[in-house]
Amino acid sequence: MKQTVSEIKEDTNRLKRLIDKLELEHQLSSDEYITLIDNRNAALSEYLFEKARRVREAYYGTDVYLRGLIEFTNYCKNDCYYCGIRRSNKNAERYRLTEEQILSCCEEGYRLGFRTFVLQGGEDGYYSDSDLIAIIRAIKSSFPDCAITLSIGERSAESYRAYYEAGAERYLLRHETADGAHYSKLHPESMTLENRKDCLWELKRIGYQVGCGFMVGSPGQSTSNLAADLIFLQELQPQMVGIGPFIPHHDTPFAKEPSGTAELTLFLLGLIRLMLPAVLLPATTALGTIDPMGREKGILAGGNVVMPNLSPREVRDKYLLYDNKICTGDEAAECRHCIEGRMNRVGYQIVVARGDAKLINQESDGTRCPSETL
Ligand code: 5AD
Ligand code: FES
Repeated sequence: MKQTVSEIKEDTNRLKRLIDKLELEHQLSSDEYITLIDNRNAALSEYLFEKARRVREAYYGTDVYLRGLIEFTNYCKNDCYYCGIRRSNKNAERYRLTEEQILSCCEEGYRLGFRTFVLQGGEDGYYSDSDLIAIIRAIKSSFPDCAITLSIGERSAESYRAYYEAGAERYLLRHETADGAHYSKLHPESMTLENRKDCLWELKRIGYQVGCGFMVGSPGQSTSNLAADLIFLQELQPQMVGIGPFIPHHDTPFAKEPSGTAELTLFLLGLIRLMLPAVLLPATTALGTIDPMGREKGILAGGNVVMPNLSPREVRDKYLLYDNKICTGDEAAECRHCIEGRMNRVGYQIVVARGDAKLINQESDGTRCPSETL
């Protein structure tokens, strides 16, 4: 049945009131998120983005924080169906960086104005806790004014604690999907959502600034799965949230699956900004891959972080989580300048700063794992 013009207007108004409610109360019910996502249109998105920009500018002005991504190993013991560096991908050419190589990435990064280094890698047992601690300490002692973020997957609580004590203050671990059944469509049986969530709560308990996140448009994802992701963010109250479109990788079981869209990713970025006003929200490389203006649009939808690559050029194209990843042929300095121009052209500027989350989400917010008893 076709809707009349006045019915469409009324619908859009009803949806706008839900966005107003999210801005005021920072939470919605699962059904309300589903209504917004399923009925979104261009006018509603613009309404959302304008609010999201206003909120991000109240906390961060037009500053954009830089994170230098150092992809230090593409060995991984896991076998996630979506990921190009999964264990079963025999075509992936594997590499590891030495402590010396990692430090030289940091040196170059520091010269270029980076004050946060993100050490990201597959789940690679080759680096023992004492190796990682040595690397963290070495970076901390050479660059005491910089923050270190780890993104090395699931490890034990003791290991997490040891890295924290060595000087790592932030940890990124995407939850990938907050729905158990969906999680098991994306991962082999050896991996569980429960374990992933436990790790996130443990990291938070230790005192890390924590980032979780998910892929948009991953195979089998429903709107109610996305609502579950948003509700999980409400519960966890992370300081950072990384989301990006799913993009197929040719050597994975999902090679023939369609990509997620920039459009839905942007809409979700806007919602997340209203839910967590002070959150650190990157316009991700995957978003820049699916749309040539994706990173600019991500900032205009409420994002406030970009994460250019600092990995040595020789290994760039080997850390291929998905096809057509951008920037794999560029030097760190090229990416740095490219990103600066991109931000400037849309009215924002890169700042030389650690870029911690503003206090609102950082104060002990009383959130605890729902399964925890007092
Ligand atoms: N498409 C998009 N994002 C991906 N990631 C892994 N594989 C893909 C893919 N095919 C994301 C995951 C992971 C992060 C490092 O990269 O969310 O947590
Ligand atoms: Fe390692 Fe996916 S296989 S993160």
